[in-house]
Formats: sequence, structure tokens, C-alpha cells
Amino acid sequence: MRIVVTGGAGYIGSVVAEVLLADGHQVLVLDNLAKGHRDAVPDGASFSSVDLLDEHAVATQLQRYGCEAVIHMAADSLVGESVADPHKYYRTNVIGGLTLLAAMRAAAVDRLVFSSTAAVYGDSAVQPIDEDVAQRPTNPYGATKLAFEHALRWYCQAYKLRATSLRYFNAAGATATRGERHNPETHLIPLVLETAAGRSPYVTVFGDDYPTPDGTCIRDYVHVLDLARAHVLALLAEQEPGSSTSYNLGCGGQGFSVRQVIAAAEGVTGRPIKIVTAPRRPGDPAVLVASSDRIARELGWRPLHATLEDIIGSAWAWMQKAPVESH
Ligand SMILES: NC(=O)c1ccc[n+]([C@@H]2O[C@H](COP(=O)([O-])OP(=O)(O)OC[C@H]3O[C@@H](n4cnc5c(N)ncnc54)[C@H](O)[C@@H]3O)[C@@H](O)[C@H]2O)c1
Repeated sequence: MRIVVTGGAGYIGSVVAEVLLADGHQVLVLDNLAKGHRDAVPDGASFSSVDLLDEHAVATQLQRYGCEAVIHMAADSLVGESVADPHKYYRTNVIGGLTLLAAMRAAAVDRLVFSSTAAVYGDSAVQPIDEDVAQRPTNPYGATKLAFEHALRWYCQAYKLRATSLRYFNAAGATATRGERHNPETHLIPLVLETAAGRSPYVTVFGDDYPTPDGTCIRDYVHVLDLARAHVLALLAEQEPGSSTSYNLGCGGQGFSVRQVIAAAEGVTGRPIKIVTAPRRPGDPAVLVASSDRIARELGWRPLHATLEDIIGSAWAWMQKAPVESH
């Protein structure tokens, strides 16, 4: 298929492009490089530097390419920034998304996989979180992703599109050639590995008095390759015109505590990692783990790289060869 990946110069989108190409698809990446890296786009993919908010430019690219389906990864995705600057998030994640849908209609493209987030659920008392848990996002990032999911449902129904939203918490790990290069980096595993590499003096652990076995927060980490496979699987799944659906993607277990992540990173790297404990951050729940039972049942997806050693080992290997400007 001829598939357009928005945000395909970013962390997860570039791995989605890599997996699509390996599966024999053709890929056009649309990315304004606000956060992405041109050199993360695989050589076999076409690339156009386009802003999602430019409907005419996006529609022209879709039409010229003969696009058959879109995987929509482009977004602003920093929770703290979204609280400080909600307009940026509504603009990119909602208006940008709706603009993409308008361009798809103009180019007669009817198939979309949307990279949403498990932040749409907010602070749930039910763990692990399945798709029936009430969606009450606690920050503008989650709220804008949910707003777009809602719009998708109505657009699918009215315009006979087919869409799947994938909700997950923390992407982690790397392939042999692509990994995480966020700036600023806010994700635990790269921050821990930066410390192991001697580029940061210590890792801050926010709160060690949570009601969890070792007192630190428990989170879900899904290998980026497993996430990419889920996006491709969802894209190829049978779906009636006019229908939209959502799946959660989780690690398949009970999640991992911050201390477990740090201990595993010490094991993988063979280096001690200094910890500094700080007070809890406001709004950080004790446990956040997604249940992927539904996508396992309906599409046969399961994480294949679900151990911390696998996830952290791949991220550490990538960090040794990642371009220098990312550090
Ligand atoms: N990283 C995670 O742990 C995680 C977890 C859950 C969901 N997600 C979702 O997955 C997607 C990808 O996340 P990521 O970590 O790879 O992020 P990323 O920042 O690495 O990639 C996003 C890409 O989108 C591009 N982009 C942003 N605004 C754009 C615009 N207006 N027009 C064109 N391109 C634009 C950026 O340049 C960047 O390359 C996002 O939608 C995010 O919300 C990520």
C-alpha cells in the first residue's frame, strides 16, 4: 500500500515507517520537523516538510502520492507544556487533526490509524485500564487527543471513513537504527540511561511513598517496535466504512516501578545509577497500566519485546550510536 505517516520524522513515527517499508509498503512521511529529525526518516521513504495545519499542502501531497491510508503520529505531546500552553495543543492536536481529515476527504483517502494516548483516561481507579474505563483526561494533552478521537467518530460516520485509535502510555526502546531523541527528554528510560552514560549526574525519583511494593510509581512501557507493529496491524484490519474503534496497547503485565527500571538499567549497562529522591509530582497517580486484552483478542497483537532487559537493552545499544546532537 501507499501509506502516509504524519510525524514520521519523530521517534515512533520513524519506526512505523521502518516497519512499513520492511513489510513491502511504500511510505511518504509528512512532518514539519518541529520536533523530528530529517535523518530519522528511513532512506526508502519519501519525505515532505509540510505542516499539518496547511490543508492545501497536505491534500496536494496525499493526492500526488496516490495515498491509500494515513497513520497519524504528528502531535505535540508534552504533558507539562500542554498545561502551560493549551492553545498550542488544541492547535496542533485538534485543529491539525481536523485539517488532516479535511485533506484526506479532498484526496479521497478513507483509512486512518490515529496514535492517541492512554492519557485520555486520566487518573483511573481501575488498573489495568481497559477501553471501557471512563475517559476523564487530567491535562490538555490527553484532552486534545480525546477531542480528536470524538471528532473521528462523527467524521467516520458521516463521511464513511474507517479509523482506529491506539491508546498507550510509554513508548520505549529502539530498533538497530532508530530510537528516542527528544529535546527536552522527559521519559524515564532515556533519562536513566543518560545517567548511566555519565551525561547526567543523577536520576530524580519523584516520590518513594506511593502505595506500591517499593514505594515508587508503576508504569507501562511498550517497545517501540511492538507499537509500530500494532499500528500496521490496525491499518490492515478489516473495517466497515463509517466505523471507528479504539484499542489500548499495554506491556501485557502488571507494569514496572521506577526502581525496577533503574535496577534493570544498572544490570543492562553494568554501571551504577545515582538516585535522588524528590517529593511526589502533583497529578502523578501511583499506577498507570493499560490492558491490551481487546487488541490481543480481536487482532492477535501482543508485545513481543516485553521484558525490561529487552526494552532497555535496545535503547542502550541505540544510545551508543545515536547522532551526537541528540544528547
Ligand atoms: N512517546 C510516547 O511515549 C507516546 C505515548 C503515547 C502516545 N504517543 C503519541 O505518539 C505520537 C508520536 O510520539 P513521539 O514520541 O514519536 O513524538 P515526537 O515528538 O518524536 O514525534 C512527533 C512528530 O510530529 C511532528 N509534528 C508536530 N507537529 C506537527 C505539525 N503541525 N505538522 C507536521 N508535523 C508535526 C514533529 O516534528 C515530530 O517529528 C504522538 O502523537 C504522541 O502523542 C507517544
